[in-house]
Amino acid sequence: MANYSEVALVTGGGVGMGAATSRRLARDGFAVAVLDINKAAAEDVAAEITTAGGRALAVAADIAQREQVAAAIEQVRAQLGPVSVLVNNAGVEHFARFQDLTDDDWDRQIDTNLKGAYIVTQVVLPDMLAQAYGRIINISSFGAQVGAPGMVHYTASKGGIIAMTRSLAMELGRCGITVNTIAPGFIDTPMARRTIAGNKLGIDVDAMVGSYPIPRMGRPEEVAAATAFFASEEASYITAQLLGVNGGTTV
Ligand SMILES: NC(=O)c1ccc[n+]([C@@H]2O[C@H](COP(=O)([O-])OP(=O)(O)OC[C@H]3O[C@@H](n4cnc5c(N)ncnc54)[C@H](O)[C@@H]3O)[C@@H](O)[C@H]2O)c1
Repeated sequence: MANYSEVALVTGGGVGMGAATSRRLARDGFAVAVLDINKAAAEDVAAEITTAGGRALAVAADIAQREQVAAAIEQVRAQLGPVSVLVNNAGVEHFARFQDLTDDDWDRQIDTNLKGAYIVTQVVLPDMLAQAYGRIINISSFGAQVGAPGMVHYTASKGGIIAMTRSLAMELGRCGITVNTIAPGFIDTPMARRTIAGNKLGIDVDAMVGSYPIPRMGRPEEVAAATAFFASEEASYITAQLLGVNGGTTV
């Protein structure tokens, strides 16, 4: 029996990587709070987990809105218990040439992808501090490592995630809390499908993924497996790290 609450919160848990991570953490024995701005999607994933014999709760919130996040996390505490694992996965993509970017485009990327992770982490943190135990996994992007034309604002937000992870790990290491980043490569999710369908990258995607050492897109479950490791008790001496789950694309 663990001496901490086995409750995980996954933001953006309704589809894609977040849904795969929610399912995986439920299989690993966590009660999972599936938080998403899309309530119906979160409910579907929570119902699937419950039907499979796990414990889950769907909560709706926009991670960029502190009051919504605070209300959602109160619900999680009341129904599942204090949170010990947080996966900051929710994010939005947008494509525009730098000279065409508007302040609204910029703000939406930073507010959701970076400020959202800050807000959720700050609201959840008292649960971890009280237990002297916690696992925080922040989802960045390989775009923050290698750059992505048309995504200056997106990659800036995801680079912020990497820096935030490192600094927060330094603050929380003495408190039994680890903080790590996963930088996924090109993963087959609704976000990637939108990108391909809209020809947003302006290149031959098959040729791009074909050039990777592992020449294909990643699967959401492959990212979920790495997240599950960081979320485990066994990953106790690993903090402030950045793990690419990207088929080797960054070489
Ligand atoms: N798919 C990829 O190739 C890829 C690559 C690198 C990084 N990422 C990152 O991985 C994470 C997951 O990506 P995905 O591909 O599964 O995305 P997705 O668009 O398929 O799913 C994202 C989920 O987040 C939710 N969400 C969006 N904004 C939200 C908000 N403000 N509050 C709460 N929930 C919100 C959406 O409703 C959706 O359920 C994102 O942070 C994304 O930037 C994706």
